[in-house]
Amino acid sequence: MYLTKEEERILDGDLGENYAKMMRILVKIGDIYGAERLIPITSAQISGVSYNTIGDHGLYFLKSLRGVKVKVPTTLNPLGFDEKHLDELKVNKEFYRKQMEIVEAYTRMGIMPTATCTPYYFDNVPKFGEHIAWAESSAVIYANSIIGARTNREGAVTALASAIIGKTPLYGLHLSENRRATHVIHLDFEPQGEDFPLLGLYVGKIIRGIPYFKVRGNRDDFKLMGAAMAASGSIAMFHVENFTPEYVDALSGKVERITVEKKDIENEKKDVNVELVAIGCPHVSLEELKRIAEYVKGKRKRRDVTLWVFAAKSVRTQGKEYVKIIEDFGGLVMVDTCVVVSNAGKIFRRIGTTSGKAAFYLSKEKFGGAEVMVADLYTLLRSVVE
Ligand code: F3S
Repeated sequence: MYLTKEEERILDGDLGENYAKMMRILVKIGDIYGAERLIPITSAQISGVSYNTIGDHGLYFLKSLRGVKVKVPTTLNPLGFDEKHLDELKVNKEFYRKQMEIVEAYTRMGIMPTATCTPYYFDNVPKFGEHIAWAESSAVIYANSIIGARTNREGAVTALASAIIGKTPLYGLHLSENRRATHVIHLDFEPQGEDFPLLGLYVGKIIRGIPYFKVRGNRDDFKLMGAAMAASGSIAMFHVENFTPEYVDALSGKVERITVEKKDIENEKKDVNVELVAIGCPHVSLEELKRIAEYVKGKRKRRDVTLWVFAAKSVRTQGKEYVKIIEDFGGLVMVDTCVVVSNAGKIFRRIGTTSGKAAFYLSKEKFGGAEVMVADLYTLLRSVVE
């Protein structure tokens, strides 16, 4: 890969071993994928933040990066708890201490102390056509598909290296020719509510590439569909006709046609008598927060069902009147964490969620192995109300 003089100097250690190490990571990735050169980025999003997921090895690595600073606006993925709800999330002292050390290590690098997988609402908002380096598969697919920014599906370490160097190798979804559809998905039904995440789970399992959908929905529907596709498969971008910003040129290459029938996604459905309703994977939008508040306003909560909503701090602040309604009702709106990376999956055995991604992970032993039901927002809210 071609390097500028300045990049070569960093690689040779002019800025110290830690910067050289970060540059070596980018050069290695660039060489593996045949990138011509590095390109500047405008934003980074870092995954690998919860102590539950990175453990002591991750913490040791982060501590070893003393002295480095990020070059571009950079945000963090959710961590293992909301500091205001340590008891509800059963956080022990050791977990708390280690998690805070991780956050400190990141903030010392100049990374914003906001922990969300939806930085695109308020905290770290890329524009159409910008090159960015994001980890967190749900944010990657949202940025590529719904915003039209350009990012590969970075890992925790490559996103961090890009944030520190301010660049990423030019390959994959940074190039226009790789952003076209590879599959056209025909549906024999009109998706509604939970059909979107269930469709995402199914399509993620059956294709590799960039699907093109002819469906009607809103940003939140497609956020849930994309997150599920990215969790059950390796999909990093999709197009929706008449909706996503790059759909017009998306069909200019060779595509494979696939039909999905209603019965295909019905197989993903489960009926569970839930004890926790968890909404906000990915973290809720202001609109979703509003819909929850409007539904529960003035109603009484069932005592045997818990309602937890997960949001970015900025969304919680912007929607504080909705938060008050939800919390007066008896639910909790948590920030900085999520149903998957906190202990929620180990505390509750039967969980209801709007999220195909949460269902995908929570049913795995590592995340608690709970029974999970994916349902639309109002079905879940009905189960919380007396
Ligand atoms: Fe976000 Fe956690 Fe879901 S990081 S996409 S809320 S698993």
